[in-house]
Amino acid sequence: MEGCYSSIDLVRAEPSHFINFGREVKGINPGNCTSEQLEDIKQALYQHEVLLFRDVVLTPEQQLKLTKAFDPDSEIYGHGGKLESEKSSILHSALHAIPRVPQVQLIGNGMIHNHEGLAETRLKHLTHKTFHKTIISPEDEVKGFTRFYRWHIDAALYDLSPPRVTTLYAVRVPEGPNQICRYDDGTGDELKVPLATTAFVSGQTMFQLLPSELKSVAVRANVKYAPHPYVWMAPAHAKSTGLGIESESLETPLEQLPSWVEDKIKIHPVLWKNPVSEALSFQVHPCCATEVLIKPLPPGASRENALYPDGAHLNELSEVRDLLYRMQRPAIAPSLVYPHKWNDKDLIIFHNRGVLHTVVGTLQPDQVRVYHQCNLAASEDPIGPSNEDIIKWA
Ligand SMILES: [Fe+2]
Repeated sequence: MEGCYSSIDLVRAEPSHFINFGREVKGINPGNCTSEQLEDIKQALYQHEVLLFRDVVLTPEQQLKLTKAFDPDSEIYGHGGKLESEKSSILHSALHAIPRVPQVQLIGNGMIHNHEGLAETRLKHLTHKTFHKTIISPEDEVKGFTRFYRWHIDAALYDLSPPRVTTLYAVRVPEGPNQICRYDDGTGDELKVPLATTAFVSGQTMFQLLPSELKSVAVRANVKYAPHPYVWMAPAHAKSTGLGIESESLETPLEQLPSWVEDKIKIHPVLWKNPVSEALSFQVHPCCATEVLIKPLPPGASRENALYPDGAHLNELSEVRDLLYRMQRPAIAPSLVYPHKWNDKDLIIFHNRGVLHTVVGTLQPDQVRVYHQCNLAASEDPIGPSNEDIIKWA
């Protein structure tokens, strides 16, 4: 192997959960590498979930080529094109396709002039203030308190398959002091974060942390997602941790969504199998979920303390959300979050089927942040647990 893979500096992170998580890659130019190097990068990504390259020069064309290497049959942007750019989508203000290479999106904050064919664009850093049910007070914001915006997987979750990887390239990183990300959920949890960090948690850890009765539910469960989930959720408000929606019946009624068909609704397993390590990751986008379908225990499994031993179909939003939150919240504890400290020209590739991530922080209009993000709707859906996995964990 020509590249050198060293641990990312994981500030404050709990070491036992991060032995395998995240590597910095040195000695490989990700924009122009050989097919052997690409193969190494792919293997390393699936082993370590997040790869960091520093001081990278990368055109949008090179970024698309690198992203596509993980799924050569993929073509279009992970959220498609037309529908998610509709004004009614919660993603509308955040994504600006680069005209030459529309699979690469310009994201960030502040006014941009003549950037990659975009004459003048106002970028808006996504902030909890437009999404959460409660917000940080102006006085506390001045003191540097902020929130996670929205924990998620990069995926349309309607019609298209979740991208395998996302590449995130920092063209320009805003300067400023660290902020304190507050959970505001009664736990007192908080996390010091670099300004405008991207925060990651491991889906494998999310599964491993569960008590056995919830592991059993996870391995037997599928999640059904809303049609056009980003239009559906747009009027709703998120929890203070950014990990799902408060149940206030504010979602767009199904009959008011852009046209949709049942066939294109996505049902995915709760656990997704890593193609290299075969480890199971808890991969649920909590904001987009509408139903949980749980299979009965397999024959011979112990029913002692079992939840939903005969299976269940949960379709009350509050019940669905309460169960998912109970399963996902432990994994976003401060010691389990990796908040990346970005520098200009950092490139991160993350395994979108093995981590959850979120934008964090609050930026002023003059704190300019310019990033290029690329992911591609996958050529096939993620693989769930095998029969052996179900027997092992149920
Ligand atoms: Fe994302």
